[in-house]
Amino acid sequence: MRLLLLFLFISCAYGLQLKADRKAHWQTGNPNHGPFYGQPEQVHLSYGGDPSRVIVTWLTFDDTLSTTVEYGESDNLDLSANGNCSLFVDGGQRQTKRYIHRVMLENIKAGVKYYYHVGSEFGWSSIFTFVGLQPRPEGGYRFAVYGDMGNINARSLGKIQKLSQKRDFDMVLHVGDFAYDMYEKEGRFGDEFMRQIEPIAAYIPYMTVVGNHEEAYNFSHYINRFYMPDSDHSLFYSFDIGPVHVVGFSSEFYFYTKYGWDQIGNQWNWLLKDLQKAEKNRKNVPWIVTMAHKPMYCSDFYADDCKLYESIIRTGLPMTHAYGLENLFYKYGVDLELWAHEHSYERMFPVFNRTVYNGTKEPYVDPPAPVHVVTGSAGCQEQVVPFVKYPPPWSAFRSSLYGFSRMQVFNATHLYFEQVSASGDELIDFFWIVKNRHGRPNQKDKLKLAKYGTQIPMNYCHHESHDCSNSL
Ligand SMILES: [Fe+2]
Repeated sequence: MRLLLLFLFISCAYGLQLKADRKAHWQTGNPNHGPFYGQPEQVHLSYGGDPSRVIVTWLTFDDTLSTTVEYGESDNLDLSANGNCSLFVDGGQRQTKRYIHRVMLENIKAGVKYYYHVGSEFGWSSIFTFVGLQPRPEGGYRFAVYGDMGNINARSLGKIQKLSQKRDFDMVLHVGDFAYDMYEKEGRFGDEFMRQIEPIAAYIPYMTVVGNHEEAYNFSHYINRFYMPDSDHSLFYSFDIGPVHVVGFSSEFYFYTKYGWDQIGNQWNWLLKDLQKAEKNRKNVPWIVTMAHKPMYCSDFYADDCKLYESIIRTGLPMTHAYGLENLFYKYGVDLELWAHEHSYERMFPVFNRTVYNGTKEPYVDPPAPVHVVTGSAGCQEQVVPFVKYPPPWSAFRSSLYGFSRMQVFNATHLYFEQVSASGDELIDFFWIVKNRHGRPNQKDKLKLAKYGTQIPMNYCHHESHDCSNSL
C-alpha cells in the first residue's frame, strides 16, 4: 500500500512536472550565470494521509534544479529527502513562472518534534519545526476550521498563527476562499497569502478545499499551491485521522461549468466510492466529516445558493436533480458537514430534506440526520454579513462576529465543536455531537426525525429576496 501511495505521489501531474535531469535556462555555459531567485518561500505542510507521512511544499521563482528537505530530531538536520518540482505558469499577462517543490517525508514518529528546512544549494529556508501527529492525552485530534480568509482584513490570522505554533491545533481545515484572490496582481496576492499562512502551515498540516475565489484560470492557483494526499489535483480527496474520515470536495464544480460538466459527475462518483469504502471501515474510523465551500443551508442576508429552496449543492442540477449531495450524505450517515462562503458562523439543527430535528432538548445526541456548520467569518475585505431577521427552523445559532471554529473528535462517541472570536478569548458558541451509533440511518432514526422534526413546506420563505413573509 505504501509503495502504491508513493508511486501515486511521484507520478502525479500538478503543473508541468520537471524532469530530474533537466537543464535550467540559466545554464548557458557562462560560469557566472545562476538562478535569478532561488530562495525558498511559502513553506507549508500537509497531511500525507497517515500520521507517519508529512508533505512539505514550497515555492521558488526560479529553477533551482533540486528539491530537498533536510530534517531530523535536532537542529543537526541529519536526515534528508528529495522530491519533485513542477513549473506553474500564471494565467496573467506576464505569465509569471513559479517553481513548486514537493517532498514527502516518511516514517515520521508520533509525538516526536522534528526540525527542518527546505531548499537547494541556491538557498535554504529558515528552520521550522513540526511534531509527528499523535492523539492528544484527552483523546483524538484538534482542528482549526474556517473559510474565507483574505490578505486584507484577515482578522483571525494572528490568533491562529500563535495557537498553531503553540500546537493548540493539530491541523487546519481551510474551507475555501483564500487571499481574495490568489490570481490578483499576476498572482502576487497568492504569494502574499501563502507567506502570511507560513507561520501556521510550516508548523501544522494545512488542509484545504477550493472556493469561488479560486476560480481564475480553472482553479490553477489552488491546484498548484496546495497538495492534498492521494489526489493529483487537491480538488476532491479524503483522509483518516484518528476516529474521523475527512472528505474534502469542490462545491465550485456545480457553478463553474464553463470548465466542463464532467467534473460534477466525476467528483460525485468518486464521493460515492469513497463513502462506500469509508462505510466498510466504520468500525475503525466511525466519524465521517465532509468539507466544501458553498453550503446547503444558511440564513444570512446576502446568502447565495443556500438561500434557494432548491440549493444546487443540496438537490443537484436543475430539473434532473442529478448529483445532489444531501441524499448521498444522508444515505451514508455523514455525521457533520463543514461549509463556509457565507461570511458568518451558523450552526444548524440536524436536518435532512427540509425536515429539521429541532423538537427535542438534545438535538445533537444521536442525531437522526447530518449536522451542518457554516464557518466563514475568519476575515477578508468583503466583511461579515448580517442574517435575515427571523431565523429559519434549521438555524440553531448565528453569529456575525469575526472568528473561527475549533473541533476535537475525542473518540468514537464524542465530537466537540466551538466558535471563538478572532482575537481575545470570547467563546461565541459550543456544542457536542454525541453518537452511540454511526452508519446509515435506520428505521428508528427515521421515526425520530419524523416525530420530533419540523417539516418545512415548499412555500416557506426565509429570505427577503423571495418577496414573501416568514409565516411558518
Ligand atoms: Fe466564497
